[in-house]
Amino acid sequence: MANARRWVVIPAAGRGERFGASLPKQYAVVAGKTVLEHALACFNGLERLAGIVVAVASDDDRFARLWRPAAPVHTVVGGETRAASVAAALQWLHDGPAREDDWVLVHDAARPLLSRDDLNALVHESEQNGHGALLGVPVADTIKHADDGMVSETIPRDKLWRAMTPQMFRLGALRDALERAGPEVTDEAMAMEKAGMKPTIVRGSATNLKITTLNDLVMAEALFAMRAQTR
Ligand code: CTP
Ligand code: MG
Repeated sequence: MANARRWVVIPAAGRGERFGASLPKQYAVVAGKTVLEHALACFNGLERLAGIVVAVASDDDRFARLWRPAAPVHTVVGGETRAASVAAALQWLHDGPAREDDWVLVHDAARPLLSRDDLNALVHESEQNGHGALLGVPVADTIKHADDGMVSETIPRDKLWRAMTPQMFRLGALRDALERAGPEVTDEAMAMEKAGMKPTIVRGSATNLKITTLNDLVMAEALFAMRAQTR
């Protein structure tokens, strides 16, 4: 079991509505490459990586022209929600080359800055506990509950985390959980929680940011520049 293969699934079929550009954000360029190319490159050199499945929109005509990593890449057509896009990729793995106990690492196309240390920590924890895990960071700000801009309550933050990706689970367990949870869950861990599991959250780095708005792209550019300086 310890030697189960690893697959990466990249949901990249979103339209990036909050980003608000004419191109979906995964095709925006930062530090000389598209956000999606960076996301793919994060897995370069990962041991026992059998392949990468990318879910793209049905009208996508850009992915085929991107840089390809060394691992085999397969594309599937994504769905209306992130969960549906991930489910399409898992279905392809299930019908095709993967086994039920293989590991699947699901990683947002919109996260170009995953570090090798965070990836290694996630893989290590998942393979130790045998079920899987996700990356996250503890919430640092004071959290308010507000209706129409009026604060009614402060939520204790000591047990709150921001969930990130990758999220790593066994193919069979994840496919079952997503199927039962339906298309509205916003990450894989949420589907596992609904199935009664308690996924382990591994503390990662806040620099593993998800590009949501144009401002995040500016932040990502600065983080890549810092990374280049410290090399
Ligand atoms: N995603 C997907 N299929 C969808 C919706 C989202 O594959 N139907 C992917 C996105 O491409 C992204 C990841 O899921 O890599 C995280 O979603 P999010 O940040 O919400 O991206 P978008 O849905 O594209 O952005 P927005 O919600 O602002 O429209
Ligand atoms: Mg979205």
